Amino acid sequence: MQTAAQWSSRWMFILAATGSAVGLGNIWKFPYIAGENGGGAFVLVYLACVFSIGIPVMMAEIMIGRRGQQSPINAMHTLAVEAKQHPIWKGIGWSGVIAGFLILSFYSVIAGWALAYIPKMLSGTFSGITPEGAGQVFNTLTANPWMLLLWHSLFMGMTIFVIAQGVEKGLEKAVSVLMPTLFFLLVALVIYAAVSSGHFMQGVHFLFDTDFQALFYPGCNPEQGVTCEMSWQGVLSAMGLAFFSLSIGMGAIMMYGAYLPKTTPITSTTVTIAIADSLVALLAGLAIFPIVFANGLDPSSGPGLVFVTLPIAFGQMDGGVIFGSLFFILLVFAAWTSAFSLLEPVVAWLVESWQLSRSHAAIGCGFLIWLLGILSILSFNNWSDFHPLAFLGDNVFATKNFFDLFDYITSNIMLPLGGLFIAIFAAWIMSHSARCEEMGGEPADISYHTWLFLIRYVTPLGVLLVFLNAVGLLKFG
Ligand code: PFF
Repeated sequence: MQTAAQWSSRWMFILAATGSAVGLGNIWKFPYIAGENGGGAFVLVYLACVFSIGIPVMMAEIMIGRRGQQSPINAMHTLAVEAKQHPIWKGIGWSGVIAGFLILSFYSVIAGWALAYIPKMLSGTFSGITPEGAGQVFNTLTANPWMLLLWHSLFMGMTIFVIAQGVEKGLEKAVSVLMPTLFFLLVALVIYAAVSSGHFMQGVHFLFDTDFQALFYPGCNPEQGVTCEMSWQGVLSAMGLAFFSLSIGMGAIMMYGAYLPKTTPITSTTVTIAIADSLVALLAGLAIFPIVFANGLDPSSGPGLVFVTLPIAFGQMDGGVIFGSLFFILLVFAAWTSAFSLLEPVVAWLVESWQLSRSHAAIGCGFLIWLLGILSILSFNNWSDFHPLAFLGDNVFATKNFFDLFDYITSNIMLPLGGLFIAIFAAWIMSHSARCEEMGGEPADISYHTWLFLIRYVTPLGVLLVFLNAVGLLKFG
C-alpha cells in the first residue's frame, strides 16, 4: 500500500524534519555528554561526524523513503526487491522500530522532567535559588517514581494523541512558530550568560578548545594515581550523539522522506536541517557552560545538568519566572515534535500492513512504550544501582542501569549500525539509475558526486573504524 499523505511544501518537510532533529538531544543530551567527555575535542569530533557521516546518511534515508513511499520496513522491502536483492534488507526497518521503542521509552521520561519544571517555574520555586537548592529540587523530583510516572504518562498521552490523528495536522503550526521562538530564547540565554555570568569565556573555552587528551584519555590524572588508558568511547559517544541528534539510523527521517514531494532537492534541504540542528546544540552549550562555571558546578555531572543550571540562571534574572516557564514549555514542544518521528514509523507500518486504524496502532504501541518507560523511571531511584547486564563481566554494559543501557545501546550501537547499513544499501545496492532519479543527479552534478563518495567510502569506513576501536575495548570476559 502506498502512503497517501504528503507534505504541503518543501518548507513543511524542513520544518517537520527539523522538528524531529531538534529536541532533547540538543538541549539536554549534547551539553551533558560534551561535559562528560571533556568539551572541545568532543564537540569537534561531533561536528565532524554530523558533516561527514550524518548529512550523507540523512540524504540516503530521505532518498530511500521517498522512493519507497511507505513506512521504513515496507520501503526497504520494496527497494530491496526492486534491486533484486533479498528482502532481509527490511531488517533495517525492524531495527529502527526497536530503536524507536527503546528511545521513546526514556525520551518520554526526560520530557516528563521538562513538563514537571513548567509548574515549578511558574510558581517561582527557583527565584533566587542557590546551586545546592536547584540540585535538591532536581533530586527530589527524580527520587519520586510516582511523580516521574505521572509526567511520563502525560507526555506519552500527548504523543499518542497527535500520532493517532496523523502527523501533518498541527505540526506545521507547532514547528513554524515554536521552533524559532525556542531558537531566539536560546540566543537570549546565551547573551544573558555572556553579560551576567562573569564566566562566559570559560564556557567558550570549554566548548571550543580542542584538548584531545580529555577525549582519548578520560579521567587521566597520574598525579592522583589515576592511570591514563586510551579509549575510543568518547569518539563513539560523539558519533552516537550525531546520529541521535539528527534522528538518523532508525528510519525516522526515512519515514518523513516518504511524504516528501518528488521535486524537492535533497542535498540543500538536508544541509539546512543539519546546520539548524548543530546550531541549537551549540547555543545550548554556550548558554549552559558559563552558568556551570559561574556556580562552581561540575560539567560532567550527568543527565541533570540542564535541569540544574538553567533554573539557577532563571532564578537570578529579572523576569526569570516568565522566561523560565517559556523555556520549559518550548523544550517540551521540541521534545514532542521529536517524539512524533519516533512513533510514526511503526504506526505507519501497522496501518499499511495490518490494516489497523491509526488510533489503535498509536494507542497500542504507545502503551508498550509507556510500560517500557517504567524501567527508565526506576533507574533514577529505586533501581539506580540495578545493573541487569552485570553478569556479562567486565565491560561497558556491566555498570549500567536500564536507562543507561537503553541510551547506550540505541545511540552508540543501533543507530550507527543502522546508518552503516543504510549507507551500504544506498551506495552499493540500489541501482545507479534509481539513485540518480531520486537525487536528481545529473552525472555532472557535483553535490551528487560528493554525496556518492561520502556515502560509499567515508561513511561506512568512518562508522566501522570508530565502532571497531570502541568495541575492541568492550573487554568481554
Ligand atoms: N533527534 C531527537 C533529539 O535530538 O532530541 C531525538 C530522536 C528523534 C532520535 C527521532 C532518533 C529519532 F529517530
